[in-house]
Amino acid sequence: MELISAIINAVWILIPVYAANGFPVLSRGKRPIDFGKKFSDGERIFGDGKTWEGLLAGLIAGTLYGCLLWLLYPYANFLAVQNGFEILYINPFIGFILSLGALIGDMIGSFIKRRLKMTRGEDAPLLDQENFILGAVLLSLPFIKISLEMFIIMILFTPIIHRFANISGYLIKMKSVPW
Ligand code: CTP
Ligand code: MG
Repeated sequence: MELISAIINAVWILIPVYAANGFPVLSRGKRPIDFGKKFSDGERIFGDGKTWEGLLAGLIAGTLYGCLLWLLYPYANFLAVQNGFEILYINPFIGFILSLGALIGDMIGSFIKRRLKMTRGEDAPLLDQENFILGAVLLSLPFIKISLEMFIIMILFTPIIHRFANISGYLIKMKSVPW
């Protein structure tokens, strides 16, 4: 039961976090957050993949999903309590903080990628998948009680979903390899 409640709460928190991470791409942003400026190593600070429009889209989307979880809270928690655990309370403000943390984490990821001379969009397996989660967890820590167990589940979530998707794609013959 402990584990199930940690999994459900981890996924619950990941909803606004994933929204904040996923919506920026839809914004087709043109204004880079670093204003096109370069760092002392001659590479861009963040690069063209981090834009003001994307930042705004991520904050709005994450906050709206925070609103959704806030509205759903009484029902979700009612079901949880019947099963002997509680759902973490998320409101629009916490949704905003989770999104801001995710977007800052994502920018730090890009900052590190540029320092490693990686081009925009180049695959950086751990950086791309975990930095936004780390950012969201760290910034929201003062406002929401995330257990170590939940944190580990959140960190494992993306790679597990990827593996699951890749194996599924292989099984339905959409992919030639199962990884
Ligand atoms: N995006 C944006 N603003 C942000 C974050 C993302 O406009 N703050 C948009 C960009 O169009 C970006 C796309 O979402 O290309 C995908 O985001 P992400 O994978 O994080 O960026 P990358 O293009 O891979 O760039 P990087 O190499 O810096 O990670
Ligand atoms: Mg990317």
